[in-house]
Amino acid sequence: MRKRSPATKPRPPVAVVVLAAGEGKRMKSALPKVLQPLAGRPLLAHVLGAARTLAPAAIHVVYGHGGEAVRGALASADLRWAEQARQLGTGHAVLQALPQIDDEQLVLVLYGDVPLIRAQTLAELVSLAGPKSLALLTVRLDDPSGYGRIVRAKGRVQRIVEEKDAGRRELAIRECNTGVLACPARLLKRWLGRVKPHNAQGEYYLTDIIAMAVKEKVAVVPLVAGEASEVLGVNDRAQLAHLEGVLRRQRAQELLLAGATLADPARVDVRGSLECGRDVFIDVNVVFEGEVTLGDNVRIGPGCVVRNARIGAGTEVFAHCVIEGAEIGPGCNIGPFARFRPVATLAAGVHIGNFVEVKNSQMAAASKANHLSYLGDAAVGARANIGAGTIIANYDGATKHRTTIGDDVHTGSNSVLVAPITVGAGATIAAGSTVIGNVPAGKLTVARARQSTIENWQRPQKPKK
Ligand code: UD1
Ligand code: CA
Repeated sequence: MRKRSPATKPRPPVAVVVLAAGEGKRMKSALPKVLQPLAGRPLLAHVLGAARTLAPAAIHVVYGHGGEAVRGALASADLRWAEQARQLGTGHAVLQALPQIDDEQLVLVLYGDVPLIRAQTLAELVSLAGPKSLALLTVRLDDPSGYGRIVRAKGRVQRIVEEKDAGRRELAIRECNTGVLACPARLLKRWLGRVKPHNAQGEYYLTDIIAMAVKEKVAVVPLVAGEASEVLGVNDRAQLAHLEGVLRRQRAQELLLAGATLADPARVDVRGSLECGRDVFIDVNVVFEGEVTLGDNVRIGPGCVVRNARIGAGTEVFAHCVIEGAEIGPGCNIGPFARFRPVATLAAGVHIGNFVEVKNSQMAAASKANHLSYLGDAAVGARANIGAGTIIANYDGATKHRTTIGDDVHTGSNSVLVAPITVGAGATIAAGSTVIGNVPAGKLTVARARQSTIENWQRPQKPKK
């Protein structure tokens, strides 16, 4: 296969056309198929991600079923939308986008429901197409049923026959059409204009252009995909679950090769991006979402969910924590059973223990809240010790208020701090206090009824029978 070096011959601008008009009946879902989540992102978002790596002139999405929902979910400046009101076939679908595409461009056709296509494969396919050649991505499958078959003669691709139109000998062919192809827009426009729905399904087949190219002596250059999973489509939830597993294994493999230790590579889900420092350890059943960064030697215990967070070097997160929107410093101890909500910012050496919730709060270095607390809309000073059961009452039913707790403050067990409030540095709040005003620095503040004992008191007696 010849490859043009981009230095000698600049590549024509690429227009990506993503077919996403299919209904996806077999998903049995109210959600359009291309919006079904895979690793936490819509199927279509995966395809768009791969397409964008080519820096295309534009990405055209052919939409139909659930069009508004699809447009709403994926709105982005680089997307152009082409409506296909009735699903008359893949050829008809591509045709809907073509009026927006210049003749000089190279069209790359992708499917919105084939999410694991790799950037590298797309780049290779595009490099194989030229002004007088079409590049076609094929795949060899042990079970080719359902796919269009690639008919070759003397090794050269002649045409594609759809399964429903295939004869017995064609059905035995194991090389299949993935649907992905790259073709000059000028040729595509000419050929698709001529495609007729004269076939078993009464559809306008994109695949018919292959025979037209051969007839006009335009080279059809096949590229056989290395891995079948990359070109697998999603038609039902079983296939979706299968691809979820493929992606999980891929991500786990990447993490292992990048130097992280996984207690069980089959039991970690990365639904977003995860960056790890050296010697990170991740226990079983951990889910990462959004953008997560783990520093050197971070340990994540079993059953944690970590979403959009940065965790500093040497921090240990014990079992079953839910961490969202947090910036956690180095050398912290978190959990078990701790919860962070956006935006929690922890400096170095902070301890957050079991059943502690931290929301929109900052904790300075070496501060501790080890048991059963709610810290909302608060700034906690260095070395402060938030006693078990301390609650910040930040919400008066209408407005959230802030609390400032100075350095070296100790709050007693079961104290309630009614915001807005400032607790001076070094203050101690007695256990069981309900503090409604500012607390002076360096002193003990008690805000509870004084203990008293009633002499000669007697328990009521049950009446004698
Ligand atoms: C198509 C190919 C087949 C290939 C297979 C790979 C044709 C005629 N056949 O078959 O050779 O092996 O994909 O999966 O191209 N779509 C639209 N509008 C339409 C029809 C389809 O947008 O009118 C979209 C679908 O949403 C889907 C894609 O095009 O993303 C493929 O459509 P599908 O009906 O699944 O094609 P197959 O019959 O599987
Ligand atoms: Ca299909």
